[in-house]
Amino acid sequence: MTQSDRARVSWHQNTETRYRHGRTSPDPDRVEPLGFPPPWPTRPWIYANVIASKNGILTWKRTGVHDDPIRAIAGGDFTRSGRLADLQLMRYLRACADAVSFGAQTLRDQPDLIGTPDIGGGLGDALYQFRVRHGLGRFPLQVVYSESGRLDLDAPMFNTPHLVVIIITTGAGARHLRARGSHEKGLTLLVAAADSIDSVGLRRSHERLLNEFGVHYVDCEGGAVMLESLHQAHILDEVFVTVTDAHVVPTEHTEVKRIFEFEAEGACLIGEGRTASDSGYIFRRWRFNQR
Ligand SMILES: NC(=O)c1ccc[n+]([C@@H]2O[C@H](COP(=O)([O-])OP(=O)(O)OC[C@H]3O[C@@H](n4cnc5c(N)ncnc54)[C@H](OP(=O)(O)O)[C@@H]3O)[C@@H](O)[C@H]2O)c1
Repeated sequence: MTQSDRARVSWHQNTETRYRHGRTSPDPDRVEPLGFPPPWPTRPWIYANVIASKNGILTWKRTGVHDDPIRAIAGGDFTRSGRLADLQLMRYLRACADAVSFGAQTLRDQPDLIGTPDIGGGLGDALYQFRVRHGLGRFPLQVVYSESGRLDLDAPMFNTPHLVVIIITTGAGARHLRARGSHEKGLTLLVAAADSIDSVGLRRSHERLLNEFGVHYVDCEGGAVMLESLHQAHILDEVFVTVTDAHVVPTEHTEVKRIFEFEAEGACLIGEGRTASDSGYIFRRWRFNQR
């Protein structure tokens, strides 16, 4: 058994019974199959996927290139099998989606980020085959939310062949992006409002993702600001959160952002899992909107 096989999340609690892609896992050694409800009639089903410290911290303002909240939250060691399981789940969740989305600050802080499932290796191949079997494109669409349009268009996401990128932005943001060559790079700008995008604009832009781009499932990978915006708009349907055993001292950082107080906000725990090889990581699935 390889290390990645030992890093499979076993869901001891899982109340979602609607398996839109069947009950067969794309790669039984590495991921258990997950079900999803149907999308809403007018907008996609939106799920998020994040990693949080034991005390609920998602991120903070980075002080430099060596200040990496995700590494600290993961327990300071990207090789432990809990983190491997988290990455395998992340890639599977990407593979289940028509679009993977990010807030602009996440992309500014992690400029090499691309939300594709096939980073290579056995799981990558299996997820590619899974998408082909279910009539999904090789790559999910990439959606970036940016009111300002202040994005580095030299980043890999905007320069990878066959990747379709949609930027949900404002009129001012669109002008800024066009002036810097978004059209020449084939990027689609979805203008949701003139100057700032409120809950109505955010909801409408997801309706457009369904109607104009056939997006039925969105996998939002954060960050915290964007998750809060989606939640305020009542369109964040559920959150997959990996809780690690790292305790982050909030006073050591600035602009600390936390995961939701799920129970206090009325979310239901519909899934919980662990890996046999790393008891420090817990995988939870919290649902806000019942369907
Ligand atoms: N722990 C985790 O799992 C996790 C997950 C993701 C990210 N992160 C970390 O979190 C940090 C970034 O997260 P963050 O919370 O600071 O920022 P974020 O959510 O990634 O991005 C915030 C930005 O999104 C845009 N935005 C916000 N509301 C919007 C709306 N209604 N419509 C359109 N665009 C909107 C704005 O972009 P403009 O400023 O361009 O207008 C805003 O500055 C990074 O360091 C990243 O590594 C952690």
